[in-house]
Amino acid sequence: MSSPSPFTPADEPAAPRFDASAAPSIVARGVSKSYVGGDGSRIQVLGSVDLEVRPGELVSVIGQSGSGKSTLLHVLGALDHPDTGEVSIGGQRVSSLKEEPLALLRSRSIGFVFQFHHLLREFSALENVMMPQLIAGTPTGRARDRARELLELMGLGARAEHKPAQLSGGEQQRVAVARALANRPLALLADEPSGNLDPDTSERLHDALFRVCQEERAAMVLVTHDLGLAARADRVLRLHGGQLVNVGPEPSGPAAGE
Ligand SMILES: Nc1ncnc2c1ncn2[C@@H]1O[C@H](COP(=O)(O)OP(=O)(O)OP(=O)(O)O)[C@@H](O)[C@H]1O
Ligand SMILES: [Mg+2]
Repeated sequence: MSSPSPFTPADEPAAPRFDASAAPSIVARGVSKSYVGGDGSRIQVLGSVDLEVRPGELVSVIGQSGSGKSTLLHVLGALDHPDTGEVSIGGQRVSSLKEEPLALLRSRSIGFVFQFHHLLREFSALENVMMPQLIAGTPTGRARDRARELLELMGLGARAEHKPAQLSGGEQQRVAVARALANRPLALLADEPSGNLDPDTSERLHDALFRVCQEERAAMVLVTHDLGLAARADRVLRLHGGQLVNVGPEPSGPAAGE
């Protein structure tokens, strides 16, 4: 591995990071998705994708630009419908849910980290992290405690009252990560979460993200172009030609080529 595991100190034997016999938190079976392009022709982005991610497991997805990685995350996160196939989160089949339970599943059980953070500009960092909890019905005091705890974990304890415009890009992105984790999601879906951050800030953000996911047993799918980062996952999958191909724990072979 190109960098030490965030979960296991180098001088200790590696303990299993997740229980391989646990029921998967994220299941995709035979998921396909196509789009109609500008010229009216159909682009098949996902062929027939199968994926299972267990509590506490970190799976990274690599692949060329345009290969469908964001599309896959959107379908896994119930932000978009597959053409065929089925996605289940925490044992709930997404397609069987009506609008209200689906919104509840999205807000309580799924955390999204996007490349660009979309923080609410008029609210403080603390309020941004409280927001999804309040929407999910968490009492204000508990939501505030959890938001403070996560901001501390992200190294932002002293910035809790700052509004996004008073935070650096890296700090804003860390607030967005804290917000995605706020409801202790079963599934954490991260699309290039470190965006354009400098290497040190990016590494700190990933360390904190991986640590919380591990501690709270979130099943995580991380999309990244950074092969070194991808290699820190339990599994590395490459999306190519609409299919997910296992390229092993370290994406260094020819199959990993981007
Ligand atoms: N709403 C849409 N309508 C039509 N085509 C789309 C739509 N969304 C995505 N596509 C096409 O689907 C393909 C996959 O897009 P996607 O955003 O999933 O790629 P990606 O792997 O995330 O790329 P990148 O690494 O650049 O973020 C691209 O060819 C894109 O142009
Ligand atoms: Mg993308």
